[in-house]
Amino acid sequence: MTTVDQAPPPPMRLRELVFGAACAAAVRAAVRLGVADALDDTPMTVDDLAAAVKTEPHTLRRLLRALSCQGVFTEHADGTFAHTEMSRLLREDDPHSLRWIALWCTEPWTWNVWPLLDEAVRSGRNVFEDVYDREFFEYLNEAAPESAHVFNRAMTTSSEQSARDVARLLDLGDVSSVVDIGGGQGHVLASLLEKHPQLTGTLLDLPGVVENADPRLREGGALAGRVQVIAGDCRETIPVTADVYIIKNVLEWDDDSTRRALANVRAAARPGARVVVIENLVDDTPSMRFTTAMDLLLLLNVGGAKHTRQSMTDRLTAAGLVIGEISPVNAYLHAFECTVPG
Ligand SMILES: C[S@@+](CC[C@H](N)C(=O)[O-])C[C@H]1O[C@@H](n2cnc3c(N)ncnc32)[C@H](O)[C@@H]1O
Repeated sequence: MTTVDQAPPPPMRLRELVFGAACAAAVRAAVRLGVADALDDTPMTVDDLAAAVKTEPHTLRRLLRALSCQGVFTEHADGTFAHTEMSRLLREDDPHSLRWIALWCTEPWTWNVWPLLDEAVRSGRNVFEDVYDREFFEYLNEAAPESAHVFNRAMTTSSEQSARDVARLLDLGDVSSVVDIGGGQGHVLASLLEKHPQLTGTLLDLPGVVENADPRLREGGALAGRVQVIAGDCRETIPVTADVYIIKNVLEWDDDSTRRALANVRAAARPGARVVVIENLVDDTPSMRFTTAMDLLLLLNVGGAKHTRQSMTDRLTAAGLVIGEISPVNAYLHAFECTVPG
């Protein structure tokens, strides 16, 4: 039976912190082995679980013990293991599943760039290109198809989970066209079109991403008649005139890319068009440990950053947009409502 001190003294806590990689690796291993999927509501012995996921029982017990210390699974007095709220989130069929996000945050490429964090902090730029010899998204889509698949599934999970919140927040009652720039596989766009039957929409993202667009948006899909899908690079051009431009979780890369993308929005948009930028902020969120970790990962892979309220405001103002209301979308995201001036 595993017992854990919830508030360990500083030397113990620091020893735990420097073993953060073991913790991330243990979650990743449990996901890849399918442990959470094999366990249902009935506690199971390690032998039965090991048989179900095809591992050695004694090493599976060691993995489960390490995870139970973190509150992922729990060990009962009789030696059986059961789900906790957190371990349930690793199941593929959980409605709030974080399975793909857990895989994404621990993908193989991440293990090669974390050791260079000191170099990235020293230089202020990404180290990904030193290690992999090309830009991050180029590497992902051209050289690491499995990782690209995990990325797209992780983005789909977080898009699906936040799409309803975005649809609830945005007032699109008198709007006839919307474009989602860097809109991934189009879940936010699909939610908006489902909610507003008068709306037509455009999804713009990189070629490798839009080719796997949400089936509702593709030929034969329920919303296909109201959708245009564009494979392109928003830093090069945004060839779409629309009433509303949505840019969600995209402007977290390097500043030059942000400048170019926003300049392209301004070049494409009519005066009076709305530009809605949605981001996780690092200074205004209940999930500071997650957002600040993502902020460092963004530095490593694209030389990017999660924004503070002020840094986002500065970039939008520099692009010549007029910022209106800034409001929370949910516990993790904020929307900056902007207008293209006349
Ligand atoms: C963090 S994801 C956000 C996806 C989606 N907007 C959401 O919030 O769920 C960033 C997206 O930007 C896209 N992206 C990256 N570089 C891009 C570029 N140069 N032009 C267009 N899209 C790009 C990625 O393919 C990815 O879908």
